[in-house]
Amino acid sequence: MPTNFRPENLVKLQMQNSKLQKLWEGVHSLAGLMVMVMFSVMFSMATNLQELDLSYCSSLVELTSSIQHLNKLKWLYMSYCKSLKILPAGMYLQSLDHLNLRRCSRLKILPDISTNISTLILDETAIDDFSFIFRLKKPINLGFCKTKIEKLWAIEQPLTSIMTMLSPTLKRLYLSNIPSLVELPSSIQNFHNLDILNITECINLKTLPTGINLQYLRDLDFTGCSRLRTFPDMSSSIIQLYVAQTGIVEVPFWINKFSKLKYLNMKSCSNLERVSLNIYKLNELSVDFSDCGALTEASWTDCPDNLFSEVSTHFICLNLDPEALLHQRPFVFEQLIMSGEQVPSYFTHRTTGTSSSLTIPLPSTSLSQPFFRHIS
Ligand SMILES: *[C@@H]1O[C@H](CO)[C@@H](O)[C@H](O)[C@H]1NC(C)=O
Ligand SMILES: *[C@@H]1O[C@H](CO)[C@@H](O)[C@H](O)[C@H]1NC(C)=O
Repeated sequence: MPTNFRPENLVKLQMQNSKLQKLWEGVHSLAGLMVMVMFSVMFSMATNLQELDLSYCSSLVELTSSIQHLNKLKWLYMSYCKSLKILPAGMYLQSLDHLNLRRCSRLKILPDISTNISTLILDETAIDDFSFIFRLKKPINLGFCKTKIEKLWAIEQPLTSIMTMLSPTLKRLYLSNIPSLVELPSSIQNFHNLDILNITECINLKTLPTGINLQYLRDLDFTGCSRLRTFPDMSSSIIQLYVAQTGIVEVPFWINKFSKLKYLNMKSCSNLERVSLNIYKLNELSVDFSDCGALTEASWTDCPDNLFSEVSTHFICLNLDPEALLHQRPFVFEQLIMSGEQVPSYFTHRTTGTSSSLTIPLPSTSLSQPFFRHIS
């Protein structure tokens, strides 16, 4: 640092990936001595600091108490500080708005912080007392993936009342890997501003609320909730729906009410048997049904005749019998990827080849037409 450096004007400090061991007070290694002395001077003066990024400082063990003087600090990023054990008890930080501690896997205790904080990411930390979340006045984005948050409802009270005790300002909620989560209560509708709900790898989750419509919900992710058997019906505003590796059996006929849906991921849903072809009523939808071994049936009920000239649906599908489909409707294949030895008999244009892949020229299609991509 130049000698005329003025830390009192410092607003943002980025130190990602550095070899910092300790901030402000004390010194752990002689090699770091000069750096540490410089920082202790610099930070005592840097009271205008608004943003501090210490992500990936994998040697950092402790953040000492002089951080409490940073009264203007709004953003504190400390994700992937895998050695971090101690945050100072009095750190409070009255202006703090964003705190990201993702993967600080040794951190057990979160000290008192400003209850005005809006983003608090505690994914994969060892924190085990989460009662502070009820004190948050205007949480917007909360991440508790792979934490012990279930202690909140396993011991103290049912999840339903927890949901009602949390501020309705919440927009984004991330939970994952919580075995005690069996039912998502309908009180989730209190969070009427919710735009992302991400509940993954909750292997015992079976029941979702019905009859609710979260009007701002854009992304819904239940990936890996393997006991979930019914298609989520929580909002018709969804743009992206991730229900890969779930036990869902059917894509129901009311799929067409998801009029904004652009992406549906049902990869590896091994129980999926039926897909309502009302799915073709959704323009611009991309779906992934790969590795859905039980999918054999596509239901054509309520499918208007002119449907296929109107829509353009990208359909990636496994295991549907294309011959049966071809006999029912005049499909146009744009791309057909198949494995196996034989060219199917229903192909009138045939060619032979010795390599494992062969190309069959298909009639060129206009993009306004639907196409079917078959992978098996
Ligand atoms: C929270 O923010 C409000 C202004 O939005 C402020 O008046 C209040 O002092 C803050 N509370 C704390 C505990 O920092
Ligand atoms: C949901 O969270 C998981 C990690 O917890 C992440 O991998 C995934 O991308 C998230 N889904 C969405 C739609 O953001």
